[in-house]
Amino acid sequence: MRLPDRLPLAHLPTPLQRMDRLSEAWGGPTIWAKRDDLTGFETSGNKIRKLEFHLAAAAAAGADTLVTCGAAQSNHCRATALAAAPLGMAVVALLRTPDGAPPSRSEGNHLLMEMAGADLRYLTPDGYARRDEALEEAAGEVRAGGGTPWVIPEGASDALGMWGYAAAVEELAAQMDGLPPMAALWHAASSGGTTAGMAWAADRLGLDAAVAGCCIGEPAPDVAARIEAIWAEAAEATGEAPPGQMPLLVDDHVGLGYGKATPGELAVQAEATRLTGMLLDPAYTGKALSGLKAEIDAGRYGPGDHVVFWHTGGGFATFQEGFHAG
Ligand SMILES: Cc1ncc(COP(=O)(O)O)c(C=O)c1O
Repeated sequence: MRLPDRLPLAHLPTPLQRMDRLSEAWGGPTIWAKRDDLTGFETSGNKIRKLEFHLAAAAAAGADTLVTCGAAQSNHCRATALAAAPLGMAVVALLRTPDGAPPSRSEGNHLLMEMAGADLRYLTPDGYARRDEALEEAAGEVRAGGGTPWVIPEGASDALGMWGYAAAVEELAAQMDGLPPMAALWHAASSGGTTAGMAWAADRLGLDAAVAGCCIGEPAPDVAARIEAIWAEAAEATGEAPPGQMPLLVDDHVGLGYGKATPGELAVQAEATRLTGMLLDPAYTGKALSGLKAEIDAGRYGPGDHVVFWHTGGGFATFQEGFHAG
């Protein structure tokens, strides 16, 4: 695959580790963890892979201000704010809160965005529904002030950010060489960029492993529509045809909805931490892993299978009140 220019920001390759104690406890497939929670410390998680492409393009365009958006506890906005700091780029982040006011406590990712010096602005859910306009308005303000903005859409999930996960699948394919075939690359899916990139590369490389997105908030058709849109944009940019088939998208484990976890999900997450030493977050990776356990219990993956759990980060949510189970 020919990829656009990237700025090396992530610590790569991330390890692929066999999680024997977890596999044994759950009595199903051999579970492997692809540790994208280790792409860095401050900038840990999946977003930094996408930002490598966005920040290279921003620098090439002479941008001095990144304008982006996400939830108040967005991993993406936190990674953007901390990645921009050493580059001397300013960050404007439009954050969704229930009432459009700043959160009452500074904790988790939000605290880190503040510490990185990002200009944080808050939107109600209705305002956030029109986030693309709000991003353009904020970019216009930067321009009016003499700056040069670079807009990064939610989750850096567009045809540029997608290459982060296409490259990541190439990285994983080399690590899987000589291992038994993997039945699934199971991961948390939300704004679709991660899944879109994985599935594009899996298709190009003829990978013998199903890309499997566990929807953590939105219904599968909504995530599929996002992936279609990203692929259409990427097809236009490259002149290549997008993959002929959607990856597997499972939305049976959305539970209470985006950012909300049931006591049962938190208990699975806590058990997984005790058995693997990995930190998980209730919004994304904890929910995806408890979704994987439910699929194992239902017989989708059994003994004899090998499954990659792609750990996409989110560990700073552990430092949010009420977001962990003992
Ligand atoms: C920790 C974590 N995992 C997974 C995802 C989902 O990635 P995407 O939005 O590309 O579908 C996100 C995105 O917000 C995330 O923060």
